[in-house]
Amino acid sequence: MRTFDLSTYTVCLASQTDFEGWRDAARSLALNDAAPQEIAWVVDAACQAASQLPPVPSGSQFKVSRDFVERAETAFCHNDPERFALLYRMLWRMRAEPELPRIASDPDVRRFEAMEKAVGRDMHKMRAFVRFRQIGEGEDECYVAWFEPDHFIVERNAPFFVRRFTGMRWSILTPYLCAHWDKAELTFTPGVDRTSAPADDATEALWRTYYENIFNPARLKTKAMQKEMPKKYWRNLPEAPLIPDLVAGADAAAREMIAKMPTPPAPHHARVQAKHWPTSHVPAGSDDGANADSIATLRKAAESCRRCPLWRDATQTVFGEGPEEASVVFVGEQPGDQEDIAGRPFVGPAGKVFDAVLAEADIDRGKTYVTNAVKHFKFEPRGQRRIHSKPNAGEIQACRWWLDKELKLIRPGLVVALGATAAQSLLGKTVPITRLRGQTIEREDGLRVFLTIHPSFILRIRDSAEKQAERNRFLRDMQAVKALTAP
Ligand code: URA
Repeated sequence: MRTFDLSTYTVCLASQTDFEGWRDAARSLALNDAAPQEIAWVVDAACQAASQLPPVPSGSQFKVSRDFVERAETAFCHNDPERFALLYRMLWRMRAEPELPRIASDPDVRRFEAMEKAVGRDMHKMRAFVRFRQIGEGEDECYVAWFEPDHFIVERNAPFFVRRFTGMRWSILTPYLCAHWDKAELTFTPGVDRTSAPADDATEALWRTYYENIFNPARLKTKAMQKEMPKKYWRNLPEAPLIPDLVAGADAAAREMIAKMPTPPAPHHARVQAKHWPTSHVPAGSDDGANADSIATLRKAAESCRRCPLWRDATQTVFGEGPEEASVVFVGEQPGDQEDIAGRPFVGPAGKVFDAVLAEADIDRGKTYVTNAVKHFKFEPRGQRRIHSKPNAGEIQACRWWLDKELKLIRPGLVVALGATAAQSLLGKTVPITRLRGQTIEREDGLRVFLTIHPSFILRIRDSAEKQAERNRFLRDMQAVKALTAP
């Protein structure tokens, strides 16, 4: 809401992040040639007076580049109360100096760039240091994090967390605004104080394991690390107590890591690994699941699986889920980044496509069993991100141990291989999925295997018409699955 008096203009913004309110007012004021010093910008949500923007003189228009608008939107999240005036001053000056944002020596531009950078850094820190704690179980399961941003970045950063943790119900609490995701909708409520955030729980241990696993001593630069992870954030990080020990042991750990670096595998590597890797690396006292008589005991045994090296870098084993009496089993490739954190298969972006298409094909996912050919996330670290890496033949072979046992316990009428890795695991050889998709192959043991693509294939298609066509083909495959499993 904005009100104006006669001599100077007072613009009331609805919130600290009311960029739209600022933009509308700024456009109208600039077209009326209102000088920056004539305007007072205030944040006042209670300012209910009718909006009285001076009318835009007819025929006048004023364009700024999209790039400037986007940059201004970032700088707008800065905590400096002067930012509204600074941005308007730049806008006003740009009528005569359209190249202004490129003049790095200009004091307004310098201040603008500094704000933009500070906001970018704060957003990056929030992405790196938000740590969720689990509260509630089952239906009430929800993850809550506490974070203290320096700037007003919560709304701008929330979509990142939606993408990263789509399959979880979560809230990020901050002193000025809280963001909530219920797996369908993103909402915001006013800020709270720190005591509203839970302090400790089982997820802490998981984060510690995760951090120990991604900590790469060979890349350690202590100064840079302390700069990146200022002490301010430490108290909210469950893994912080590990840092001094990991840093102290880093040289030795780096040497050990180098000593353990694999030499390029020989051509027969996969066969040798599959033959020799088993039991010798399983921790003492753990169960290999050979005698498991239920999916629950099998899942428990798989938690300490050491059948291939992938357990080292993954957060946890992501086992199959669904009823033991399911008539259809879906087999994917391996858990992705989100599945690795959530501990459940197909909850990330590919899982969303999978769920949507199953629903359209009238298949109730809750009545099916969903699993993967490989039960640990294999990835390449790239900066903060973990990039999916395809499992090799040895890893697929090693993990067949679990898949075979899942299938023996469930005895489904049909198994659906989602993509080439699943097909390779189920049929024991590589098969051309694009040529054979939609077909059912009967194994020697009588198990029927339906072949189709992996849903992530749809996600990777850029052209929207092609994407839609591929999704339709996948839907037809799922409808065929429904028909094949109809009682
Ligand atoms: N892709 C898979 O193959 N499995 C998952 O669980 C998630 C993504």
